[in-house]
Amino acid sequence: MVLHGQKLVCVISGASRGIGRAIALEVGKRAGAGSTLLLLARNSARLDLVQHEITKQRAGEVTVQTSICDIGTATAAEFTQLLNDVKTKAGQVDAAYLIQNAATLGPGDQRASQLTDTALISNYMQLNFNSFVLLNSLFLQTFPSGHRCVVNISSGAAYRNLECFHLYAAAKAARDAFYRCVAAEEKGVRVLNYNPGPTITDMQHEIGDHAWSEELKQWSKKGTSGDGDFLKPEQAVEVLFTLLEEDKYESGTFFNAGGKELSIELK
Ligand SMILES: NC(=O)c1ccc[n+]([C@@H]2O[C@H](COP(=O)([O-])OP(=O)(O)OC[C@H]3O[C@@H](n4cnc5c(N)ncnc54)[C@H](OP(=O)(O)O)[C@@H]3O)[C@@H](O)[C@H]2O)c1
Repeated sequence: MVLHGQKLVCVISGASRGIGRAIALEVGKRAGAGSTLLLLARNSARLDLVQHEITKQRAGEVTVQTSICDIGTATAAEFTQLLNDVKTKAGQVDAAYLIQNAATLGPGDQRASQLTDTALISNYMQLNFNSFVLLNSLFLQTFPSGHRCVVNISSGAAYRNLECFHLYAAAKAARDAFYRCVAAEEKGVRVLNYNPGPTITDMQHEIGDHAWSEELKQWSKKGTSGDGDFLKPEQAVEVLFTLLEEDKYESGTFFNAGGKELSIELK
């Protein structure tokens, strides 16, 4: 299943800035004539800018719909409405993509042992995991056949012992595990877990400004500084698009931005 030149419908969460914006711009460049993109996030002005950037290059060829949507509170009915609308607008397509990119860092200013606020924990998991499951299920129900691909924007933090990342890492590991099971159940759906690697975005600046660990703060500040080695968002998504275009990956596999597979052997 190759993106380039195909008539697509593509839903991207967290498309207003950072890595999600870079994904939206790249899909906007590659999608074939007649494609429809649905961009989700809370910030309408930023979504409009992304929409404008795509349509100024692809006017009359690619339709970009935006929706102000808080993934953390959206209901099944709201997601269904958005998906049905984009399906109707798109008409017959060659392929349907869902790229689940939206996420938050969580309370990185607290240690794991300080997490006693159950509302905070529930709200965090609602946005970063529960809604991820919901949007995936409703997407597959809305597009029940044909070429379909679902992508989880994950993180290497899910597989390391790291300070400050507790809830973030747990939610990412849960998303990865969930998508491995979707890959096992849905043989007709291409499923990918993708870790963009350390990237210069607002999320990374949040680590540098607010993490309780001085070591982590310094790592983030150094990596995002002028001579730092963290990636720009457009570089962080290069391998993602190579994987999607080549379409040779095993469904459910976790890939790092360097193109390396994470091998998990559970016997
Ligand atoms: N940056 C890194 O170093 C790095 C490394 C590994 C993995 N990642 C992953 O890459 C993805 C993108 O991260 P990023 O660094 O680009 O983050 P970011 O700069 O903080 O952007 C996050 C995106 O998610 C959206 N979002 C946040 N809360 C939302 C909500 N409640 N409802 C809807 N949308 C929401 C934001 O839009 P609004 O604010 O407009 O809603 C924004 O578009 C995440 O899954 C992250 O975990 C990042």
